Amino acid sequence: MEASAFGEGLSSGHAGIDAQHQELAAASAELRVLLEAEDRLAAGPALERLRLATQAHFRFEEELMAQGYEHARNHREDHASFLAELGRISAELETGITAKVRLWVASRYLSWFRYHARSADAGLARYLRRREEELAAAAQAGAQAAPDAGPKAKAAPAAAP
Ligand SMILES: [Fe+2]
Ligand SMILES: [Fe+2]
Repeated sequence: MEASAFGEGLSSGHAGIDAQHQELAAASAELRVLLEAEDRLAAGPALERLRLATQAHFRFEEELMAQGYEHARNHREDHASFLAELGRISAELETGITAKVRLWVASRYLSWFRYHARSADAGLARYLRRREEELAAAAQAGAQAAPDAGPKAKAAPAAAP
């Protein structure tokens, strides 16, 4: 089915990121239909909405990276160069629904996202999971240490011979 085909392969392993990927995939599929129908009046605003939604998605991820993520710089650069590409396609659409615009929306948009989701975004998702686990472990250690820190603290095992 078309609905599952355009949204597949966009999983990074982070629920919030992946939900946005699905929304972007749906928006790009809608735009694709408008371009195929040669509906330039509707296609212009639809591409602008897709551009803004893509930009908002990148900002969302970049905020998640803000706390010391080691690949933040490369990841941000990937986002910036893709947004620049999207900007060029927007400018091209001003001149009309060209083959380049149609092909970019039909193929390039999602193929970029599929690659990016399983490389850069998956790396970010792993980092966020690891950090969450570390924070949970630290909180648990803290909770255990507090009540045990009293008289029991000196319970040393019998010395080995
Ligand atoms: Fe990303
Ligand atoms: Fe993403």
